[in-house]
Amino acid sequence: MLTKPSLALSDGATIDDLINLEMHEVQLRVMSDEELYRYEMERIFGRTWLLLGHESEIPKAGDFIVRDMGEDNVIVARDREGQIHVSLNVCPHRGMRVCTAEAGNSHVHRCIYHGWAFRPNGDFIGAPIEKEQMHGAMRSKSELGLKKARVYVYGGLIFATWNIEGPSFEEFLGPMKFYFDQLFCRTDSGLELLGPPQRFMIPANWKIASEQSASDGFHTLTLHRSLMEGGVMGSTPDSIYDMAPGMYGVDVSCDEGHSLRCIEAAQTFKMFSDIKFEGKSVEERLNLLPPPGITKDLVPQLFKNLSAEQVEMLATIPPQVGGMFPNILILFIFAPRTDGGSSGALALHAYVPRGPNHFEFVNYIFAEKDAPEQVKRDMLQNAIQQSGTSGVIEQDDADTWPQIMRNARGAMSKHMTLKYQALSGNKKPEGWPGGGYTYPGFTKDDTQWNWWLNYHRLMSRPV
Ligand code: FES
Ligand SMILES: [Fe+2]
Repeated sequence: MLTKPSLALSDGATIDDLINLEMHEVQLRVMSDEELYRYEMERIFGRTWLLLGHESEIPKAGDFIVRDMGEDNVIVARDREGQIHVSLNVCPHRGMRVCTAEAGNSHVHRCIYHGWAFRPNGDFIGAPIEKEQMHGAMRSKSELGLKKARVYVYGGLIFATWNIEGPSFEEFLGPMKFYFDQLFCRTDSGLELLGPPQRFMIPANWKIASEQSASDGFHTLTLHRSLMEGGVMGSTPDSIYDMAPGMYGVDVSCDEGHSLRCIEAAQTFKMFSDIKFEGKSVEERLNLLPPPGITKDLVPQLFKNLSAEQVEMLATIPPQVGGMFPNILILFIFAPRTDGGSSGALALHAYVPRGPNHFEFVNYIFAEKDAPEQVKRDMLQNAIQQSGTSGVIEQDDADTWPQIMRNARGAMSKHMTLKYQALSGNKKPEGWPGGGYTYPGFTKDDTQWNWWLNYHRLMSRPV
């Protein structure tokens, strides 16, 4: 009996042609193919958990923000009971966008076309001229609400999925929860978003930035070389390839495609190299060099909110950069400021698809809610100086992504392959407290390949 390929494009290419599991190669055309993109919207963005924002963006009853789950526009709203709801921003009457604002406060979302109205939880209230029953008599009001997504709030971050019966959010995180908790769930009041996210369009496919986010540490040595040439990251222009600053640590990932780079605190940047950790307790270490975004006053809260093993990891080899499948970059770093000082920069980027040739870069910048105002201001300034297209780090990336995109369209070049063949192999460092796959030593391609394996898995599964 012939078995139907799990995914085949109209020119006959299957998912196994596009992603060569044996050779660890991916055809460049995956970045530009329109048919594949339509499959991605259904099989990935229609099914996985997606980041939509932070609860500090909608603190009051009636507050809402408008965001996207793939190409689907959604209203993220807080009801009178404080619950957060995510509803498809498509009027069930004739398909108009119900909420045309970006954000605001309202207990009623009224469609501007014929006036059908909905509550923050998506329920249908009614149409104008109630006595005329302008919604008809064929469907009950309860059938005419906005389509509702499944919501989970993790460390204040708002996630949603259309996969109502699918894996729980904790299953989606898999073994990475142990590490993610160290970033998102470590203080009493949690994180606070420092203003609305920066948003800008990049002329590249969402996967070009997203696979890089699966902990591509290697590119920083060359693409972000200018950061190191200044000497602030533990090297001089002549010694970058000898010292390879920030390249050694433990990369962690999992079958779910998430990953993090854990880098020794004291070795991350030259500016901290005079700190001596030998013989110091966890608490002493944390007070000498609190993790990015944590002040000395907040150190006791780490012990309260995390396990002893998690706190020890934060004190010695904290997770600093990585990604959450499918389209999130995590940046929780110590970073130099242009005024000569240094501070933490905490940011999450969502790379939201806008057709196969563009994505919207949504840059969320955070600080701990309980941090002093001056620290928050410094961190906001630092994150803007480092991240986003105005940031010294991501100006480099935002120049590279569109150039890869252009190559993905060429008749010859689209058949070139992306290669993930520098592999460390999964090895658990002695005494390592966390789960998942661990890759100690020089950062290699393992975590990015795991990202593609999960992509392959989800794209092979019909909806
Ligand atoms: S399309 Fe929304 S009320 Fe008609
Ligand atoms: Fe980068």
